[in-house]
Amino acid sequence: MYRKELYVFNEDIPKKAIIRNYTSEDFEDLIRIQQESFPPPFPSELWWNEQQLTNHISLFPDGALCVEIDGRIVGSMTGLLVHFDPTHPAHTWEEITDSGYIRNHDPNGNTLYVVDICVSPAYRKLGLGKWLMQSMYETVVRLNLDRLLGGGRMPGYHRYAKELSAVEYLQKILTGELKDPVITFLLHCGRTPLQIVENYLEDEESLNYAVLMEWKNPFKQ
Ligand SMILES: CC(C)(COP(=O)(O)OP(=O)(O)OC[C@H]1O[C@@H](n2cnc3c(N)ncnc32)[C@H](O)[C@@H]1OP(=O)(O)O)[C@@H](O)C(=O)NCCC(=O)NCCS
Repeated sequence: MYRKELYVFNEDIPKKAIIRNYTSEDFEDLIRIQQESFPPPFPSELWWNEQQLTNHISLFPDGALCVEIDGRIVGSMTGLLVHFDPTHPAHTWEEITDSGYIRNHDPNGNTLYVVDICVSPAYRKLGLGKWLMQSMYETVVRLNLDRLLGGGRMPGYHRYAKELSAVEYLQKILTGELKDPVITFLLHCGRTPLQIVENYLEDEESLNYAVLMEWKNPFKQ
């Protein structure tokens, strides 16, 4: 089981946070945070339901993390283990996460795949998303996996889709000319892009595109 206490800083004021595995007692809060984090036009069918959360904590509890401040859950991150073949990288979110039900979780998989990460809007930019990611990196190392991987949405793309292809949009993010709320966050977390995937997830703002972004276990080359 995973538990970590740390301080994050809100305008120089330290605030205690706890990162720990989530349990069935947290389900209501986790669903609330999904609703706050993925407002319309994001499809509400893609918010967690109790069955998905039950599968997360029973099939791969190591991959079910939440962050708590003042006794209140304010963010979560969920993953499963898959066997990823870098020579055949393309996939959709539905395929690789079993639409969030993770019944395809493979205890012998080589890759910790991120199903979801979200932080409640009122608690953003405190470093909580990055700490959740760091906690999953620790799990990658502890389980001696090859990598952490996930498809990053690019919700800023719809504003540029008329002028730029998805590849050009990503290039401008990588040169710092543009910032994307998710891809730039993932770069700040130490993730690196592998490739763009079309029709990854029903996601109007990203025009259904995502960037597969990897973090390689530095102890396994
Ligand atoms: C993406 C998300 C989880 C980030 O959470 P967060 O707790 O606000 O992020 P952090 O405070 O840990 O930020 C970490 C770094 O990313 C940067 N960052 C965070 N949000 C950013 C944004 N919108 N634009 C640019 N950079 C951003 C921060 O500046 C910080 O940089 P630093 O480490 O160099 O100081 C949060 O915005 C969210 O829940 N979004 C909606 C849900 C979603 O789309 N999830 C992704 C699914 S693929």
